[in-house]
Amino acid sequence: MCGIIGVTGDTDALPLILGALHRLEYRGYDSAGVALVVDGEIWRERVADGKHSVAALAARTTAEPPPPGHAAGIGHTRWATHGHPTAENAHPHLDCTGRLAIIHNGIIENHAALRAELVAAGHVMTSATDTEVVAHLIEGHMAAGLSLAEATRAALGAVRGAFSIAVAHADEPETIVAARRSTPLVLGLRDGVALLASDIPALLGHADQLFSLGDDELAVLTPGHITVTTLAGLPVVPEPLQITWDLEAAQKDGYEDFMSKEMHEQPRAVANTLLDRRGADGRLALDEMRLTPDELRRIDKVFIVACGSSYHSAVVAKYAIEHWVKLPTEVDIASEFRYRDPVLTERTLCVGVSQSGETLDTSMAMKEASRLGAKVLVVSNVVDSSMARAADGVIYTRAGLEVGVASTKCHLAQIVALEILGLTLAQIHGTLTPGEIAGILDEMDRLPELVEQALQRSVEVDDVAGKLTKARDFFFLGRHVGYPMALEGALKLKELAYLRAEGYPAGELKHGPIALIEKGTVVVGIATRNRLWEKMLSNIAEVHSRGATVVLVADDGDEEAAAVADHVLWVPPCPPLLSPVVGVVPLQQLAYRLARLHGHDVDRPRNLAKTVTVE
Ligand code: AGP
Repeated sequence: MCGIIGVTGDTDALPLILGALHRLEYRGYDSAGVALVVDGEIWRERVADGKHSVAALAARTTAEPPPPGHAAGIGHTRWATHGHPTAENAHPHLDCTGRLAIIHNGIIENHAALRAELVAAGHVMTSATDTEVVAHLIEGHMAAGLSLAEATRAALGAVRGAFSIAVAHADEPETIVAARRSTPLVLGLRDGVALLASDIPALLGHADQLFSLGDDELAVLTPGHITVTTLAGLPVVPEPLQITWDLEAAQKDGYEDFMSKEMHEQPRAVANTLLDRRGADGRLALDEMRLTPDELRRIDKVFIVACGSSYHSAVVAKYAIEHWVKLPTEVDIASEFRYRDPVLTERTLCVGVSQSGETLDTSMAMKEASRLGAKVLVVSNVVDSSMARAADGVIYTRAGLEVGVASTKCHLAQIVALEILGLTLAQIHGTLTPGEIAGILDEMDRLPELVEQALQRSVEVDDVAGKLTKARDFFFLGRHVGYPMALEGALKLKELAYLRAEGYPAGELKHGPIALIEKGTVVVGIATRNRLWEKMLSNIAEVHSRGATVVLVADDGDEEAAAVADHVLWVPPCPPLLSPVVGVVPLQQLAYRLARLHGHDVDRPRNLAKTVTVE
């Protein structure tokens, strides 16, 4: 998830671009760059300074300003998915001539194949990004005599994946060509000026009119004018946007808070994390993994170590890895793992799961694992985070920047990334056939749609939440992968609504905690189908008969489950080991709504930080 901005016409482009990038930093900030068409050339500056890249870019362009009189300009702030967050990988990218500049938000799925063709044709690549291949594709078509707009149109015909792009060329100094597929792009107009941006905050106050560019549409921006066509070349009348948002509301894309925005980004986060994981032969190929198949083949035990929601993702992965790979898999809370003298060997794979890649408990646990000789693999959402850099291997979730303190889209993306790791281990250890693996991956490809369906049921969840506002004691119960779902649901309620909630294995309740069940206790049960579903329902009947108010997460149409519940949160069914990716959604929504009903700030819950860098 990156921020892009472009402007052409009667305005000073550089300060407008820098201001817009500052407004877009919530979309990503590990590097930033700007390109201007000046005196028939492309002038470009790029920096990679972590959280302060935009400020560093502003300082750099103040100290070393461009020549006066620039025409079109484009700017970009990056959240790395392909290629380390370095200045070389920062946008804008240039073609071989250095006269074309491009910025991009999204993921080009077939970038590797395109890169190979372009290099074979003599193009010289200067970055590891997927974006750069588009610059060279356009270059080739312009060399064949096409205009920037037609060359861009032709180039995008070869591209698969999600993109919002903006392209400028020194030969057409006042023109910017933009196009989009799946990722947002907004256009703006005022007298003598035309603008584009990945989303609305960047354009607030700079445009009198705003338009959204539709999927597979291309826009040509010149001073004060915008012409839109489909990628096939048919004319389009762009759809006007009526925006009354202030800046903060616009950064939330119109949602009331970042948490609800990020919950709604979950289908895309899951889809992006699944993208580009299979090679041409259909087998799993984790290009950023760094650990070789031979190293992974020697693994005889797996540890997964994490904190909070990342720990809950790890518990889901334990069930999946042991089932698919038949390797013993232990899961540990990071702050305990590092002090309990864990027994690791050089044939142990120790996986650290951390959205931020900076959590001190987890990073120190990984250091301990490495000291004990284990192979260390990190699952992180931040490219080149401290943990990712220190690890032997890495798998990135591609959820985009997560601003809300309560983890939502990263949690789902972690489960997906860890299950992809499990399938990769199964492929290497031969414990699943290629057909079995392909079948599971095909099921995983349905997850974004199932998550979207679950999200659409928020009204039902809100209705249930409205009936629980007086409840003060909650149990979350589950069996098998329902257990880590119960842990996650309880954590969400604690950290957002400040209510006492305990996640527990349903089969364990009778060994003591059932003494706590009384009238008014709310029990949230995870009753999506798995091979322990019948036992789960009998556990629920036990608490229901003792006066508990029962809320069940159940598969659509499961009337047997509904019969033992006071309220049901319906979810679309999916294979048990994948079900947490979908079943957690109503638990997030329940906690969110109860927090709002209790008047709490869901983005900044009390006492909590987004990243815990202390012991
Ligand atoms: C989850 O909602 C919490 N914000 C918290 O438990 C978080 O998952 C934990 O601190 C781990 O963070 P990490 O994934 O960045 O390591």
